[in-house]
Amino acid sequence: MSKFKFLIVNGPNLGYLGQREPEIYGSQSMSSLGEMLEKNRPGFKQLVELSLFQANGEGQIIDRLEQAWKDKFHGLVINAGAYTHTSLAIADCLAWIKIPYVEVHLSNILARESFRHQSLLARNSLGVIAGFGLMSYVLAVEALFNHCQHQH
Ligand code: DQA
Repeated sequence: MSKFKFLIVNGPNLGYLGQREPEIYGSQSMSSLGEMLEKNRPGFKQLVELSLFQANGEGQIIDRLEQAWKDKFHGLVINAGAYTHTSLAIADCLAWIKIPYVEVHLSNILARESFRHQSLLARNSLGVIAGFGLMSYVLAVEALFNHCQHQH
């Protein structure tokens, strides 16, 4: 069986995860993710090829998403940071490339300021996972994997 290709996309201010406001976003960095995934589901690396991308700019994120479409990625996990709440451009991109995606957040955005309650990106997502720190990503990859397995 060939591997599923998943891309994890992190938006602005997520490049220093572990150091940025750890009381809100946790003290683990993205580098722990592979290990956490493997712990959660041993043998995961044989099933899924994970690529990681982080950019602070809206256009860079869109360029990467378009490239993922060209490269026929099977799924996306996206934490667009503050662009979640503002970016019609990223929402439009996700709508046309049609790669199944899970929206994630480290913090529970619904338990925070009201301006974080709205997501422009959730509309076309498979679902949204928020509030579990880096574990949000593990759960999202797991959900994406289950989804893709049932599609193939
Ligand atoms: C975030 C929540 C956003 O509101 C915020 O702007 C971020 C991170 C999260 O992962 O909890 O940058 O997406």
